[in-house]
Amino acid sequence: MTWFRAISDSEIPEGVAVGVIVDGRSVLVARVDGVVCATTNVCPHAGAKLSGGVIKNGCITCPAHLWRFNLATGAKQSNDHVVLAVYPTRELDGFIDVDLPDRPIARSLREVLLAHARGVPLELDPEHQEW
Ligand code: FES
Repeated sequence: MTWFRAISDSEIPEGVAVGVIVDGRSVLVARVDGVVCATTNVCPHAGAKLSGGVIKNGCITCPAHLWRFNLATGAKQSNDHVVLAVYPTRELDGFIDVDLPDRPIARSLREVLLAHARGVPLELDPEHQEW
C-alpha cells in the first residue's frame, strides 16, 4: 500500500463524491457525515463511473443501473458478496491522501492463458491489462 495525494480537502464538501485519477487509477472520494471515504470509481456491474451517482444515507447509487453501495464498507445493498474496493484515507496539509494497494503485475494474454491451462491462479487488474 502506498499513500497518494488525491484532491484538495476543500473540493470535497459534505455529501459530495468526486472522481479523481490517482496513480493512473479511477478513484471516488466522498465525504459522508464528516468522514472522507475512498473507493474505486468503477462500478463492478458494468463499469460505469460511480462519481455521477447520488449519495444518501451513506450509500452511493450508480447512475447507470441504480446499484447502491455503502461508501464505508463498499458492500452492495442487498448483496454483500459484491463489494467495491475501499481505500484508507487521511487528511494532511489541506489535502486528502488515499492509500492504494500495489498494482498487480500486468500480464500478457499468453501468460494468462498458460496460467489458466496449468490451473495456476493469477491476480489480475482489469483496468491495466495490455490486451
Ligand atoms: Fe453500475 Fe450497472 S454499471 S449498476
